[in-house]
Amino acid sequence: MDRYAVIGNPIAHSKSPRIHALFAAQTGQPLSYEALLGPIDAFVATVEAFRAAGGRGLNVTVPFKLEAFDFADRHTPRALAAGAVNTLAFGPDGVLGDNTDGAGILRDITVNQACPVAGRRVLLLGAGGAARGTILPLLEAGPASLTIANRTASKAAELADEFATGALKPRGCGFAALAGQQFDVIINATSASLSDAAPDLPAGLYAPGSLAYDMMYGKGDTPFLAAARQQGAARLSDGLGMLVEQAAESFLLWRGVRPDTAPVLAAMRAAI
Ligand code: ATR
Repeated sequence: MDRYAVIGNPIAHSKSPRIHALFAAQTGQPLSYEALLGPIDAFVATVEAFRAAGGRGLNVTVPFKLEAFDFADRHTPRALAAGAVNTLAFGPDGVLGDNTDGAGILRDITVNQACPVAGRRVLLLGAGGAARGTILPLLEAGPASLTIANRTASKAAELADEFATGALKPRGCGFAALAGQQFDVIINATSASLSDAAPDLPAGLYAPGSLAYDMMYGKGDTPFLAAARQQGAARLSDGLGMLVEQAAESFLLWRGVRPDTAPVLAAMRAAI
């Protein structure tokens, strides 16, 4: 059995062990996957002990994604763009750091939700780590425009500048500056839901047929999705699919096999 784990703090409620167990059963891959509580001041020691005990790879969650970035010897381009690592792969030639979060949300939106991003007007809310990890995959999907809006406008402007190296230049602004505009896909990458709040957005942002996507998930609508419903968003999605898809991307990196996510997502949804 090859050993994998997710490391975080707290970690007890992580759904990753269940998701990867379902992937392993489905694909017949001989692996075990556990939850590892990382002491706040001992991330590196915990990872090294896991590796020394035969561990092949780790998923990394809050609050260790930046430390995992520093720990990796090499990085994928998407991990470099995100500036954070959620997947470590231990190989004979060192530690590879990847970030599958952005690919996970893009796959959930474009495949599971069957909502194209190419040619659409996309609004990304937030300018923290979760938003940052999504920008490169979003730009690569070829939207008509990408607007990054944040409660603190300066942070959105800085992030937009940082990613203004390609043909499509993101715009960065505060929430009030969105007034009068419309978008086809609006993604909530703020942590507002953690305090049971929704971002304070102007009315009228949802274009006909638009998708409201919250990276958070739970039983029923998140505060952002409840507000989007009131604002007339045609379609709503929480982030459970993103969770399953980012796990599938990690599984693919480690094992070279892409699991079928649909039955796993259905099982995880039923368990909420
Ligand atoms: P994460 O890694 O989850 O992205 P983070 O880096 O702490 O967490 O970033 C949190 C993001 O949520 C920020 O964009 C923050 O806005 P500010 O930069 O203005 O602080 C945003 N956020 C948190 N609470 C919010 C709220 N109640 N309304 C709107 N935005 C909020």
